[in-house]
Amino acid sequence: MPAKIISGTEIASRIREEIKEDAASLMEQHGIAPGLATIIVGRNPASVSYVTAKQKTAKDLGFYSVQEDLPEDVTEERLLEIIEKYNNDPKIHGILVQLPLPKQINENRVLYAIDPDKDVDGFHPTNVGRLMIGEARFYPCTPYGIQHLLMRSGVQIDGAEVVIVGRSNIVGKPIAMMLAQKAKGANATVTLCHTGTRDLAFHTKRADILIVAAGRPKAITADMVKEGAVVIDVGVNRIGMTPEGKAKLCGDVDFDGVKEKASAITPVPGGVGPMTITMLMLNTIQAAKLTI
Ligand code: GUN
Repeated sequence: MPAKIISGTEIASRIREEIKEDAASLMEQHGIAPGLATIIVGRNPASVSYVTAKQKTAKDLGFYSVQEDLPEDVTEERLLEIIEKYNNDPKIHGILVQLPLPKQINENRVLYAIDPDKDVDGFHPTNVGRLMIGEARFYPCTPYGIQHLLMRSGVQIDGAEVVIVGRSNIVGKPIAMMLAQKAKGANATVTLCHTGTRDLAFHTKRADILIVAAGRPKAITADMVKEGAVVIDVGVNRIGMTPEGKAKLCGDVDFDGVKEKASAITPVPGGVGPMTITMLMLNTIQAAKLTI
């Protein structure tokens, strides 16, 4: 039987309604509008499209939001000054610097400069460390979105064999840490695969839940997936343009083949992507509440 399609678009839209209500009561009870500052360096089309979507969502939810568009050749000092300005701005509760950054800028130095209480990406070492010991303040948005997708789709995570493909700091490593915690929506047995993994299919075929963030189109084919597995595709690969001039996207999973074998699967687009943006909003409202 073909897999159930897990719609991130639908689940995200339900969560956004909850966030909207939460934001309205924050305003009513404390006079606070959650404030988000997004900073983008250069005009990388994928980054521009992500940041535009983040800003639009923030505005739709009634957040206060500002955007800094910096030139590709901006100096690290200038970027750090801007971060400091928002660290000290009481109207701003969350700061997001879109990655990747151009090579003249030391990415870690920039991420370390963000006030950990405003680090709505959850990338500051303090927040990474807190997550590691089960004391998270902010969960990184994509892993957080994946966990919500699984929980809200009724997928059994407790005791499941979870296999993750990709060990990035943004997705692979944090989702591995989150799902291995002894906590609700977690308590899984986690295997983290990467480019050094000797026999990738050996591991992926054991997965009850397969999470793919490999950064390569169709890295996972049907023969690598167990019958009845739940497959979460984090990949966003640009494979040309539609006749309307929009980017044509595909994931890291061979969707057409794998959907015949999996019990549930996320599409690209419309799977993890909308959840990532929604979790950023959830983190921003959480950051605003830290100031009460
Ligand atoms: N680039 C790709 N994903 C992300 C993300 O979640 N946050 C930021 N800041 N940059 C990204």
